[in-house]
Amino acid sequence: MATIVGTIMTSHVPAIGGAIAKGRQSDPYWKPFFDGYPPVRAWLDRVKPDVAVAFFQDHGLNFFLDKLPTFAVGAAPEYPNADEGWGIPTLKPVKGDPALSWHIINTLVADEFDITMCQQMQIDHALSLPLALLWPGGGDWPIRVVPITMNHVQHPLPSPKRSWKLGESVGRAVQSWDSDARVLVLGTGGLSHQLDGERAGFINKNFDERFMASLVDDPEWATRYSIPELVRLTGTQGVELVMWLAARAALGPLARKRHSNYHIPISNTASGLMLLEPA
Ligand code: DHB
Ligand code: FE
Repeated sequence: MATIVGTIMTSHVPAIGGAIAKGRQSDPYWKPFFDGYPPVRAWLDRVKPDVAVAFFQDHGLNFFLDKLPTFAVGAAPEYPNADEGWGIPTLKPVKGDPALSWHIINTLVADEFDITMCQQMQIDHALSLPLALLWPGGGDWPIRVVPITMNHVQHPLPSPKRSWKLGESVGRAVQSWDSDARVLVLGTGGLSHQLDGERAGFINKNFDERFMASLVDDPEWATRYSIPELVRLTGTQGVELVMWLAARAALGPLARKRHSNYHIPISNTASGLMLLEPA
Protein backbone atom coordinates (compact mmCIF):
# COMPACT_ATOMS: atom_id res chain seq x y z
CA MET A 1 0.00 0.00 0.00
CA ALA A 2 1.09 3.60 -0.52
CA THR A 3 2.84 5.40 2.33
CA ILE A 4 2.23 8.96 3.52
CA VAL A 5 5.72 10.30 4.21
CA GLY A 6 4.76 13.70 5.60
CA THR A 7 2.74 16.88 5.33
CA ILE A 8 4.00 20.29 4.31
CA MET A 9 1.84 23.34 4.94
CA THR A 10 2.80 26.71 3.53
CA SER A 11 1.39 30.13 2.72
CA HIS A 12 0.81 31.03 -0.95
CA VAL A 13 1.13 34.71 -1.85
CA PRO A 14 1.40 35.84 -5.51
CA ALA A 15 4.24 38.28 -4.68
CA ILE A 16 6.48 35.25 -3.98
CA GLY A 17 6.40 34.52 -7.74
CA GLY A 18 7.70 38.02 -8.49
CA ALA A 19 10.43 37.74 -5.84
CA ILE A 20 11.63 34.42 -7.31
CA ALA A 21 11.59 35.78 -10.88
CA LYS A 22 13.63 38.84 -9.82
CA GLY A 23 16.06 36.85 -7.64
CA ARG A 24 15.11 38.78 -4.49
CA GLN A 25 15.45 35.81 -2.09
CA SER A 26 18.29 37.51 -0.15
CA ASP A 27 16.74 40.99 0.06
CA PRO A 28 16.15 41.95 3.72
CA TYR A 29 12.39 41.96 3.12
CA TRP A 30 12.31 38.42 1.68
CA LYS A 31 15.18 36.65 3.45
CA PRO A 32 13.32 35.68 6.67
CA PHE A 33 10.64 34.10 4.50
CA PHE A 34 12.83 32.23 1.98
CA ASP A 35 15.19 31.10 4.79
CA GLY A 36 12.40 28.88 6.04
CA TYR A 37 12.56 26.53 3.06
CA PRO A 38 16.09 24.97 2.85
CA PRO A 39 15.48 22.52 5.76
CA VAL A 40 12.27 21.37 4.07
CA ARG A 41 14.08 20.98 0.75
CA ALA A 42 16.81 18.92 2.46
CA TRP A 43 14.07 16.67 3.88
CA LEU A 44 12.49 16.31 0.41
CA ASP A 45 15.91 15.40 -1.07
CA ARG A 46 16.20 12.65 1.51
CA VAL A 47 12.60 11.36 1.54
CA LYS A 48 11.96 11.73 -2.22
CA PRO A 49 8.16 11.54 -2.40
CA ASP A 50 6.75 10.34 -5.74
CA VAL A 51 3.43 12.13 -5.64
CA ALA A 52 1.86 15.01 -3.71
CA VAL A 53 -1.81 15.30 -2.81
CA ALA A 54 -2.38 19.04 -2.54
CA PHE A 55 -5.21 20.88 -0.76
CA PHE A 56 -5.40 24.43 -2.02
CA GLN A 57 -7.82 27.03 -3.22
CA ASP A 58 -8.65 28.04 -6.77
CA HIS A 59 -8.73 31.87 -6.75
CA GLY A 60 -11.04 32.28 -9.76
CA LEU A 61 -8.93 30.54 -12.43
CA ASN A 62 -10.95 27.34 -13.06
CA PHE A 63 -14.10 28.27 -11.18
CA PHE A 64 -15.68 31.69 -10.85
CA LEU A 65 -18.59 33.02 -8.82
CA ASP A 66 -21.13 31.66 -11.33
CA LYS A 67 -20.04 28.01 -10.82
CA LEU A 68 -18.03 27.18 -7.75
CA PRO A 69 -17.62 23.64 -6.39
CA THR A 70 -17.02 23.33 -2.66
CA PHE A 71 -14.46 20.54 -3.25
CA ALA A 72 -12.98 19.55 -6.63
CA VAL A 73 -10.45 16.81 -7.37
CA GLY A 74 -8.18 16.92 -10.42
CA ALA A 75 -7.94 13.72 -12.46
CA ALA A 76 -5.80 14.90 -15.38
CA PRO A 77 -2.48 13.59 -16.72
CA GLU A 78 -1.05 17.12 -16.57
CA TYR A 79 -1.95 20.48 -14.99
CA PRO A 80 -0.86 23.68 -16.74
CA ASN A 81 -0.03 26.71 -14.61
CA ALA A 82 -1.79 29.98 -15.28
CA ASP A 83 -1.96 33.29 -13.50
CA GLU A 84 -5.40 34.47 -12.50
CA GLY A 85 -4.40 38.11 -12.58
CA TRP A 86 -1.23 38.92 -10.62
CA GLY A 87 1.18 39.27 -13.57
CA ILE A 88 3.59 36.62 -12.30
CA PRO A 89 5.62 34.34 -14.61
CA THR A 90 3.98 31.12 -15.75
CA LEU A 91 5.72 27.97 -14.54
CA LYS A 92 5.99 24.57 -16.25
CA PRO A 93 2.99 22.22 -16.17
CA VAL A 94 3.02 19.62 -13.41
CA LYS A 95 2.36 15.92 -14.11
CA GLY A 96 -0.73 14.32 -12.61
CA ASP A 97 -1.35 10.84 -11.25
CA PRO A 98 -4.78 9.84 -12.65
CA ALA A 99 -4.72 6.43 -10.91
CA LEU A 100 -4.40 8.03 -7.48
CA SER A 101 -6.87 10.77 -8.45
CA TRP A 102 -9.57 8.23 -9.30
CA HIS A 103 -8.85 6.19 -6.19
CA ILE A 104 -9.29 9.34 -4.08
CA ILE A 105 -12.46 10.32 -5.98
CA ASN A 106 -13.96 6.85 -5.44
CA THR A 107 -13.09 6.91 -1.74
CA LEU A 108 -14.50 10.41 -1.24
CA VAL A 109 -17.79 9.59 -2.96
CA ALA A 110 -18.06 6.35 -0.96
CA ASP A 111 -17.50 8.51 2.15
CA GLU A 112 -20.46 10.70 1.06
CA PHE A 113 -18.49 13.71 -0.22
CA ASP A 114 -20.22 15.22 -3.26
CA ILE A 115 -17.15 16.38 -5.10
CA THR A 116 -16.55 17.72 -8.61
CA MET A 117 -14.23 15.59 -10.78
CA CYS A 118 -12.00 17.56 -13.13
CA GLN A 119 -10.32 15.87 -16.06
CA GLN A 120 -8.88 19.26 -16.97
CA MET A 121 -7.61 21.74 -14.43
CA GLN A 122 -5.18 24.63 -14.32
CA ILE A 123 -3.23 25.46 -11.19
CA ASP A 124 -2.82 29.00 -9.92
CA HIS A 125 -0.34 30.59 -7.49
CA ALA A 126 -1.84 28.65 -4.58
CA LEU A 127 -0.20 25.48 -5.87
CA SER A 128 2.47 26.58 -8.37
CA LEU A 129 4.30 28.85 -5.89
CA PRO A 130 4.45 26.29 -3.06
CA LEU A 131 5.90 23.85 -5.66
CA ALA A 132 8.42 26.50 -6.76
CA LEU A 133 9.45 27.06 -3.13
CA LEU A 134 9.90 23.32 -2.51
CA TRP A 135 11.60 22.47 -5.85
CA PRO A 136 13.24 25.71 -7.05
CA GLY A 137 15.09 26.18 -10.31
CA GLY A 138 12.27 26.25 -12.84
CA GLY A 139 13.09 22.77 -14.18
CA ASP A 140 10.74 19.85 -14.59
CA TRP A 141 8.92 19.13 -11.34
CA PRO A 142 10.27 15.92 -9.73
CA ILE A 143 6.81 14.99 -8.45
CA ARG A 144 3.34 14.09 -9.70
CA VAL A 145 0.39 15.94 -8.17
CA VAL A 146 -3.24 15.27 -7.27
CA PRO A 147 -4.81 18.73 -6.85
CA ILE A 148 -7.80 19.11 -4.53
CA THR A 149 -9.40 22.55 -4.47
CA MET A 150 -11.53 23.84 -1.61
CA ASN A 151 -13.83 26.84 -1.95
CA HIS A 152 -12.42 29.78 -0.02
CA VAL A 153 -13.72 32.42 -2.43
CA GLN A 154 -17.51 32.69 -2.00
CA HIS A 155 -19.60 32.00 1.10
CA PRO A 156 -20.83 29.58 2.30
CA LEU A 157 -17.36 28.06 2.77
CA PRO A 158 -16.95 24.49 4.03
CA SER A 159 -16.56 24.45 7.81
CA PRO A 160 -13.26 23.57 9.51
CA LYS A 161 -14.93 20.36 10.77
CA ARG A 162 -15.99 19.34 7.26
CA SER A 163 -12.55 20.18 5.90
CA TRP A 164 -10.96 18.00 8.60
CA LYS A 165 -13.22 15.10 7.57
CA LEU A 166 -12.29 15.63 3.91
CA GLY A 167 -8.62 15.35 4.85
CA GLU A 168 -9.27 12.20 6.90
CA SER A 169 -11.03 10.59 3.94
CA VAL A 170 -8.21 11.51 1.56
CA GLY A 171 -5.71 10.07 4.06
CA ARG A 172 -7.69 6.79 4.14
CA ALA A 173 -7.74 6.76 0.33
CA VAL A 174 -3.97 7.11 0.11
CA GLN A 175 -3.37 4.45 2.79
CA SER A 176 -5.61 2.01 0.87
CA TRP A 177 -4.08 2.72 -2.55
CA ASP A 178 -2.50 -0.40 -3.99
CA SER A 179 0.85 1.15 -4.90
CA ASP A 180 4.35 1.41 -3.43
CA ALA A 181 4.33 5.19 -3.99
CA ARG A 182 5.61 7.58 -1.35
CA VAL A 183 2.98 10.27 -0.93
CA LEU A 184 3.43 13.81 0.36
CA VAL A 185 0.43 15.82 1.55
CA LEU A 186 0.47 19.56 0.85
CA GLY A 187 -1.79 22.24 2.31
CA THR A 188 -1.47 25.85 1.16
CA GLY A 189 -2.97 29.15 2.26
CA GLY A 190 -3.07 31.51 5.22
CA LEU A 191 -2.02 32.25 7.71
CA SER A 192 -3.95 35.27 9.01
CA HIS A 193 -4.59 37.95 6.40
CA GLN A 194 -7.28 40.23 5.07
CA LEU A 195 -6.95 41.79 1.62
CA ASP A 196 -10.00 44.01 1.55
CA GLY A 197 -12.56 45.98 3.53
CA GLU A 198 -12.21 47.96 6.75
CA ARG A 199 -9.80 45.48 8.31
CA ALA A 200 -7.48 45.21 5.27
CA GLY A 201 -4.02 44.33 6.59
CA PHE A 202 -5.41 42.50 9.63
CA ILE A 203 -3.04 39.87 11.09
CA ASN A 204 -3.39 37.81 14.30
CA LYS A 205 -0.02 36.46 15.39
CA ASN A 206 -1.37 34.95 18.62
CA PHE A 207 -3.95 32.91 16.77
CA ASP A 208 -1.49 31.79 14.07
CA GLU A 209 1.02 30.59 16.65
CA ARG A 210 -1.66 28.77 18.63
CA PHE A 211 -2.93 27.16 15.42
CA MET A 212 0.52 26.01 14.31
CA ALA A 213 1.21 24.50 17.73
CA SER A 214 -2.16 22.75 17.74
CA LEU A 215 -1.35 20.89 14.51
CA VAL A 216 1.34 18.94 16.34
CA ASP A 217 -0.43 17.74 19.47
CA ASP A 218 -4.10 18.81 19.39
CA PRO A 219 -4.80 18.80 15.65
CA GLU A 220 -8.59 19.09 15.79
CA TRP A 221 -8.37 22.23 17.99
CA ALA A 222 -9.35 24.60 15.16
CA THR A 223 -12.40 22.51 14.19
CA ARG A 224 -14.21 24.10 17.17
CA TYR A 225 -14.55 27.33 15.17
CA SER A 226 -17.22 28.26 12.65
CA ILE A 227 -16.23 30.06 9.45
CA PRO A 228 -17.57 33.45 10.74
CA GLU A 229 -15.51 32.99 13.92
CA LEU A 230 -12.41 32.15 11.88
CA VAL A 231 -12.96 35.21 9.66
CA ARG A 232 -13.10 37.35 12.81
CA LEU A 233 -9.98 35.73 14.25
CA THR A 234 -7.83 35.43 11.11
CA GLY A 235 -9.25 37.81 8.47
CA THR A 236 -11.41 37.29 5.40
CA GLN A 237 -8.59 35.45 3.59
CA GLY A 238 -7.02 34.03 6.75
CA VAL A 239 -9.68 31.32 6.65
CA GLU A 240 -7.50 29.71 3.98
CA LEU A 241 -5.70 28.09 6.91
CA VAL A 242 -8.51 25.53 6.87
CA MET A 243 -6.57 23.91 4.00
CA TRP A 244 -3.74 23.27 6.46
CA LEU A 245 -6.32 21.48 8.59
CA ALA A 246 -7.35 19.15 5.73
CA ALA A 247 -3.69 18.39 5.01
CA ARG A 248 -3.05 17.69 8.69
CA ALA A 249 -6.05 15.37 8.93
CA ALA A 250 -4.76 13.30 5.99
CA LEU A 251 -1.52 12.60 7.88
CA GLY A 252 -3.22 10.55 10.60
CA PRO A 253 -3.69 11.04 14.34
CA LEU A 254 -0.08 11.37 15.53
CA ALA A 255 2.48 13.74 14.07
CA ARG A 256 6.02 14.85 14.80
CA LYS A 257 7.21 18.33 13.86
CA ARG A 258 10.37 18.41 11.72
CA HIS A 259 10.45 22.12 10.89
CA SER A 260 8.46 25.35 11.06
CA ASN A 261 8.86 29.01 10.20
CA TYR A 262 6.63 32.05 10.78
CA HIS A 263 7.20 35.55 9.47
CA ILE A 264 5.14 38.77 9.23
CA PRO A 265 4.47 40.10 6.64
CA ILE A 266 4.79 38.78 3.12
CA SER A 267 2.69 41.22 1.14
CA ASN A 268 -0.49 41.38 3.28
CA THR A 269 -0.06 37.97 4.84
CA ALA A 270 1.42 36.38 7.95
CA SER A 271 3.43 33.60 6.32
CA GLY A 272 3.78 30.18 7.84
CA LEU A 273 5.58 26.97 6.96
CA MET A 274 5.42 23.59 8.67
CA LEU A 275 6.76 20.11 7.98
CA LEU A 276 5.22 17.22 9.90
CA GLU A 277 5.95 13.51 9.72
CA PRO A 278 3.65 10.73 10.88
CA ALA A 279 4.66 9.67 14.40
C1 DHB B 1 -2.18 37.76 -1.02
C2 DHB B 1 -2.47 36.63 -0.24
C3 DHB B 1 -3.24 35.59 -0.76
O1 DHB B 1 -3.58 34.48 -0.05
C4 DHB B 1 -3.70 35.66 -2.07
O2 DHB B 1 -4.40 34.60 -2.55
C5 DHB B 1 -3.45 36.77 -2.83
C6 DHB B 1 -2.67 37.82 -2.31
C7 DHB B 1 -1.34 38.87 -0.47
O3 DHB B 1 -1.02 38.89 0.73
O4 DHB B 1 -0.94 39.75 -1.26
FE1 FE C 1 -4.89 33.08 -1.20
